[in-house]
Amino acid sequence: MPTAAPTSFDEAFAAVSDVEGWMTPDQARRLWDRASELGQGSRIVEIGSFRGRSAIVLASAAPAGTEVVAIDPHIGTDRGPQEIVTTEELGQSDNEVFNANLEAAGVRERIRHVRKKSEDALGDVDGAIDLLYIDGAHRYGPARDDIVRWGERVVAGGTLLIHDSFSSVGVTLALLQSTTFGGSWTYIGRSQSMAEYRHTPTRGSGRARNVGRQLAQLPWFLRNVVIKVLMVAKLGRLTRFLGHDAETWPY
Ligand SMILES: C[S@@+](CC[C@H](N)C(=O)[O-])C[C@H]1O[C@@H](n2cnc3c(N)ncnc32)[C@H](O)[C@@H]1O
Repeated sequence: MPTAAPTSFDEAFAAVSDVEGWMTPDQARRLWDRASELGQGSRIVEIGSFRGRSAIVLASAAPAGTEVVAIDPHIGTDRGPQEIVTTEELGQSDNEVFNANLEAAGVRERIRHVRKKSEDALGDVDGAIDLLYIDGAHRYGPARDDIVRWGERVVAGGTLLIHDSFSSVGVTLALLQSTTFGGSWTYIGRSQSMAEYRHTPTRGSGRARNVGRQLAQLPWFLRNVVIKVLMVAKLGRLTRFLGHDAETWPY
């Protein structure tokens, strides 16, 4: 008997409790809320699925008939914090675990996996996107390309969620260059490092406020950078002075 997909946030979060990845309860809630309020026939695109933690929440929340596309090459690069280059074997293992996790959560049939890098997958998704979740390669170049090239395909009024915002240096520089000063995205807020934007242009004083609200996140960004430097220098115990737990990479 196939597993039934989760029908509530609590069920979905329980379904991913053993799925490896980086997504806090608040972040899962934000994904759930934005996906569940989509209309019939919408399209969700996730860039960077890893082992399926966020994809399972998105696919469980989306109304019936939503196309959910998960783009991840599973080639063992840019897997997570400090894992820019690992091995192809690990990428293949991510792919197998991803498929098994989707199956176990009962959402395998709801997700179309495009096993390509996001920059090579633009032609694999037809039409506009209602909800775009970016959590792929966090280096500046690929992160900026994802925001710009995939972001322009989000419908007017649609949603962009970006993980590791104001936490990863590459993602934050990409945000400053695209969403902060670009004028076509309105900053809504964030759950830890998951920032939410609406595809709505800002003008005049509204634009200045929009820039200001994003620049106001920079002290939190600097804190995260200091925490990471301390952790890399094996001085994690000092992160307690910044209200951090010494063990967990900030996200
Ligand atoms: C931080 S993990 C994603 C975590 C996932 N969203 C979760 O909730 O568990 C980053 C993922 O991005 C993928 N990735 C790396 N480069 C990519 C690219 N150019 N396009 C799409 N995905 C990429 C990696 O294979 C990895 O699985």
